[in-house]
Amino acid sequence: MRETTHHPAADAVHPITATVLATLSGCTDTRLKEIMTALVKHVHAFAEEVQLTGDEWRRGIEFLTQTGKKCDGIRQEFILLSDTLGLSIMLDAIHRRDDVTETAATENSLLGPFYREGAHEEAFGANIARTEGEPALFRGRLVDEAGQPVPNALIEVWETANNGMYEGQDPDQPESNLRGKFRTGPDGEYAFRSIKPTPYPIPTDGPVGQMLLALGRHPMRPAHVHFLIQAPGYDTLTTALFSADDPYVESDAVFGVKPSLVVDYVRNGSAADAKAWDLPNPFFDVQRDFVLARSQGAAR
Ligand code: BEZ
Ligand code: FE
Repeated sequence: MRETTHHPAADAVHPITATVLATLSGCTDTRLKEIMTALVKHVHAFAEEVQLTGDEWRRGIEFLTQTGKKCDGIRQEFILLSDTLGLSIMLDAIHRRDDVTETAATENSLLGPFYREGAHEEAFGANIARTEGEPALFRGRLVDEAGQPVPNALIEVWETANNGMYEGQDPDQPESNLRGKFRTGPDGEYAFRSIKPTPYPIPTDGPVGQMLLALGRHPMRPAHVHFLIQAPGYDTLTTALFSADDPYVESDAVFGVKPSLVVDYVRNGSAADAKAWDLPNPFFDVQRDFVLARSQGAAR
């Protein structure tokens, strides 16, 4: 066995781990040093715990190689890996501000790979569905933690069509189908018409799909509508609303569901409402407010 130099942080680790950690002593980037120290410790401990064999690690390397090869300008298989291992939502949980957790600020969820910049700004109440579906009205107010309206904010939304695909994935969908950008009114109000979303599988034609299959996991995300909400002086809110009646709401493949983000699609049978919103009777009515957290350091 190799001689090891004593490293204070390396107490109670394998001598090989201690040797590797000792090589980090010259690193002047303290954050990089902290991250690499923990990474080396955890990776070594992991190999030891599962008694990882050479063949298994070669398979692991092949998996990571294929994951890299699957990536291009559009597809990001490593993010999908992070999502399906729960790491993406873990980072979100770690970094949720303590002060915000104490308030009613709306919780985050995953942005996902299908967000596209450049959505058209639509008028209050506009219909963004250019394909078939069950008509739904989404409406509510954008407020701050004190309940005061946040006017003139940008709310971007996107969701899948009935075939489970986002417009950007599907050349057969009309341009701008099921996505749009809305500005909140003087009282923080927003409204748009669309369709009730459907559950859909995350991309399964790569190594992450094979991993899910091998693990006996399904690739489905419960039906949801994405929201990206931006207003000067407030933290940007990346979130989504999930359908309460969805079969996958308790088993999202990427762990993005939070109970506070689950909403009911209430059947509205009011003829007056249907007429006012130019929707068939009945339609689904989703009423939901969003609460933004003030940016740290922003004037109160
Ligand atoms: C999405 O909701 O669009 C999504 C999020 C994470 C991985 C795949 C898709
Ligand atoms: Fe999505």
